[in-house]
Amino acid sequence: MNWRRVTAAVCAVALLPLFPGEETARQAGAPAEVEVNSPPLVALTFDDGPRNKTTGPLLDGLALREVPATFFLVGSRIAGSEELIQRMKAEGHQIGIHTYDHVAVTDLNREDFDLQVGKTRARLVDILGQGDYWLRPPYGIIDQSVEQWCDCPLILWSVDPEDWKDEDVDRIVASVLEHVRDGDIILMHDIFATSVEAALRVVDALLAEGYCFVTVEQLMAQRGVQPQSGALYRRFPPENSD
Ligand code: NI
Repeated sequence: MNWRRVTAAVCAVALLPLFPGEETARQAGAPAEVEVNSPPLVALTFDDGPRNKTTGPLLDGLALREVPATFFLVGSRIAGSEELIQRMKAEGHQIGIHTYDHVAVTDLNREDFDLQVGKTRARLVDILGQGDYWLRPPYGIIDQSVEQWCDCPLILWSVDPEDWKDEDVDRIVASVLEHVRDGDIILMHDIFATSVEAALRVVDALLAEGYCFVTVEQLMAQRGVQPQSGALYRRFPPENSD
């Protein structure tokens, strides 16, 4: 099938501004503006992993479709999945933090916060090297201390099919497709086989609709948003600017 090739070409156009060095100079006499009909962008995100048994097949499916995603990892699950995490990075996915023990980060003292977030970040640095590892707070709740201590952007979501609730693939797919719009961040969990199947069906359906999948970082860059430490993001553009 050649839709995959078409999709790759469309996304390459969408992502061109990420690589300003590749922009070609406009020749004299050329039209001042060439309107490129940009495809809608969407970021698929996965929480609570890694889990070799389900995250592995998900990476296979995403690689086949040439689609990047963003993974927010639970630190206590990292041991034994180091190769999987290296593969995520090698295949162009974004990797972030979802605390060490999957706990709410509110009402923690500084020491406990660092044991949850700093310790997970340190594990990622061990495996992947220095980098920006953004935080998705479990349950989507934060407080002022979290904003001050996190040392990175805080990433929530705008589409939540509650894939953990019933593990019903058809319902999960329908829920995402009903709600998704340009600029959304979709929340799913790669610890369930049903979520992996649903996510790949969502990818196929949205590619067929002309969507381009990007990481959260790419989505932010595409929408001209400078990442701010301690700022909370749900989608790009934010809901209230539509
Ligand atoms: Ni979670």
